[in-house]
Amino acid sequence: MSVGPALPDLQMAMVGALVAAALGGGVLLLLRRFLSAGVRRFPPGLMRGKTVIITGANCGIGRAAAAELARLQARVILACRDRQRGEEAAAAIRRELGEEEPPPHCGELLVKELDLASLSSVRRFCQEVVQEEPRLDVLINNAGILQCPYMKTEEGFEMQFGVNHLGHFLLTHLLLGLLKSSAPSRIVVISSKLYKYGEINFEDLNSKQSYNKSFAYSRSKLANILFTRELARRLQGTQVTVNVLHPGIVRTNLGRHINIPLIAKPLFNLVSWAFFKTPAEGAQTPVYLASSPEVEGVSGRYFGDCKEEELLPKATDDLVARKLWDISEVMVGLVT
Ligand SMILES: NC(=O)c1ccc[n+]([C@@H]2O[C@H](COP(=O)([O-])OP(=O)(O)OC[C@H]3O[C@@H](n4cnc5c(N)ncnc54)[C@H](OP(=O)(O)O)[C@@H]3O)[C@@H](O)[C@H]2O)c1
Ligand SMILES: *[C@@H]1O[C@H](CO)[C@@H](O)[C@H](O)[C@H]1NC(C)=O
Repeated sequence: MSVGPALPDLQMAMVGALVAAALGGGVLLLLRRFLSAGVRRFPPGLMRGKTVIITGANCGIGRAAAAELARLQARVILACRDRQRGEEAAAAIRRELGEEEPPPHCGELLVKELDLASLSSVRRFCQEVVQEEPRLDVLINNAGILQCPYMKTEEGFEMQFGVNHLGHFLLTHLLLGLLKSSAPSRIVVISSKLYKYGEINFEDLNSKQSYNKSFAYSRSKLANILFTRELARRLQGTQVTVNVLHPGIVRTNLGRHINIPLIAKPLFNLVSWAFFKTPAEGAQTPVYLASSPEVEGVSGRYFGDCKEEELLPKATDDLVARKLWDISEVMVGLVT
């Protein structure tokens, strides 16, 4: 037999295999998108009479969590750095809910200004909340910034450490009285699996010696977990719980500082559409921790997909957690 005729056959087979792979892949993508776990529904009315604060609630995971908690009839305060963007999100959520569950069968949404990159803004926000709100049942520390170029907060802290950790540290501290007087109450902290690549390098928490944007993000997310541990320890016996979670990979605006070459954008969009979670899916674990009776009394734990997960030893180091707490108190001016 000559080799000649075999070659086209081989080529045909390869083309066939490629086409089959592409089709199979396409079908898989569609299945992933449309048959995926989807969104778990809690009983309506579960959060009636409860007040929830969500930071960074004008888009992404925070916005989706706000919508779901309002659907469960909570009074939801969207804490946003830009009032306009916050009001637009609140109006859009009201429209969405109004079609599904017209008032009074859904909760209330209100917007308050909070810039976590400014400690004076954090203080103003908390003063207003404490004056105006008789109770606070849930605080969700969700706002975050990812891998931005080197920037400083108003007080001169490195932006990712400043917003993701320090701003929320002061915020939580100043709202703790109200949370305690409303107990049983809950604090929910959004971290990320990327904490694994971080380190609490006490000698350069402000990245003055060197700035690595990936490291700084991971460090801030490790700080979120250590903060949760230390706070849970301090809150023992108060009926205020605090838990931390990673949401998975979610299609949001978080990547705004990452430059994807124009030519790779369509591929990225396809992959993210197919494989990333929707914001509503990403909001599942925060909503679960904020509202489910299953986690009543549970504190100081780390969750993913509504289940408890293990942490690396660096995220369970109580000495580092305590030292980070003490230094954070000084950095935000709670202790001199
Ligand atoms: N998306 C993911 O795959 C993923 C994975 C792991 C962890 N997370 C975490 O999930 C959380 C939510 O992120 P997302 O994915 O929903 O991203 P997003 O769509 O970018 O939302 C982030 C929110 O934080 C707000 N924010 C940023 N800086 C702020 C500041 N200085 N003061 C007040 N608010 C500020 C943003 O407000 P503006 O719109 O005004 O900028 C926005 O509302 C973050 O903590 C993030 O680290 C996300
Ligand atoms: C920046 O930090 C990341 C995560 O910690 C690390 O993997 C990477 O090697 C660092 N890059 C440089 C240039 O040091």
